[in-house]
Amino acid sequence: MKGLILSGGKGTRLYPLTYTSAKQLIPVANKPILFRVIESIRDAGIEDIGIVVGDTADEVQEAVGRGGRWDVNITYIRQEHPLGLAHCVKISRDFLGDDRFVMFLGDNVIQGGISPLISEFAGSAWNSQIVLTRIAHPENYGVAELDEEGHIRRLVEKPKEPPSDLALVGIYMFDHHIHEAVDKIAPSQRGELEITDAIQWLVTNGRAVHPYVHRGWWIDTGQPGDMLEANDLVLEELDYKVEGYIDRDSQVGRRVTIQRGAEIINSVVRGPSIIGENSRIINSYVGPFTSIYHDVVVENSEIEHSMVLEHSRIENVGARIQDSLIGRDVNISRSPIKPRALKLTLGDHSKLGIL
Ligand code: TTP
Repeated sequence: MKGLILSGGKGTRLYPLTYTSAKQLIPVANKPILFRVIESIRDAGIEDIGIVVGDTADEVQEAVGRGGRWDVNITYIRQEHPLGLAHCVKISRDFLGDDRFVMFLGDNVIQGGISPLISEFAGSAWNSQIVLTRIAHPENYGVAELDEEGHIRRLVEKPKEPPSDLALVGIYMFDHHIHEAVDKIAPSQRGELEITDAIQWLVTNGRAVHPYVHRGWWIDTGQPGDMLEANDLVLEELDYKVEGYIDRDSQVGRRVTIQRGAEIINSVVRGPSIIGENSRIINSYVGPFTSIYHDVVVENSEIEHSMVLEHSRIENVGARIQDSLIGRDVNISRSPIKPRALKLTLGDHSKLGIL
């Protein structure tokens, strides 16, 4: 069996963070989402993984490399334009051959324990297995309608009136019949080749598509709020470890990970939270559900329920920062120079909430 990870797309809903860099490389609980996806596939015993890449191809290739770190072989497949999930299958035909494969969206975070599901499909006679979960707003996703016996009756992409609350999670398993399906379907109204339509084609043409209903959590990290929610859920499940330095004047909770080279000086850190490599927390408060990534400085400031990416500095900020997603190389500080005013340099599509 092979693995196919989709890491192209535009990530427009996460601008400005994804203006120039890949959404799939945003670290959730200090590990890029894409790395979590590779680990899930590797844990199912799959060694050959293809990654579909778009405009951020260079960045993804630099971060992931050839897969040696995970004992897998990575093949990159270039998609010139994000023409849909089924289009990704189409352009991966040479890599996939006639093998069975699992396809993962590179920006989805799912609660562990799905490896047995993939292994089960590998040894089954099903032509496809899809993963469904019950959600409150299925109208933003592909939605499945099942009959009384639990078989798929039909699938619809982003329906205005959903026939059920069962949304398609971004994990799909297929055998070679999917290649005929993606060749047969036409682009949708939004101009994309929809994987939902291709799976519907399999159902209509009598192929065995097995629906599995996932009961744990699953987050599609399309928007900033989703990213924070995924971070909350993963932080709760971390194995906490202190590898950095905590001075005697600091108070650090039990559910806090301090990564290598990090320093906590005269500060309070409450868990669940994680402080990245070589980051420094000085005279500050870091509250629950916060991920501070590598090489960050937080000094004389308070932050809670937030994510801060690498090389950013938060210094002498009077108000507590909360519910925030702060990118790379960002500087937030109190200016000593008069007049007392907000002095901002914000990129395109930035969002700032003021007291
Ligand atoms: P989406 O979240 O549907 O699309 P997007 O990443 O372009 O985001 P936005 O809507 O905010 O602009 O994509 C789901 C995943 O699939 C994501 O990891 C990107 C990937 N993808 C591709 O690789 N190729 C494609 O043609 C599409 C549509 C998505």
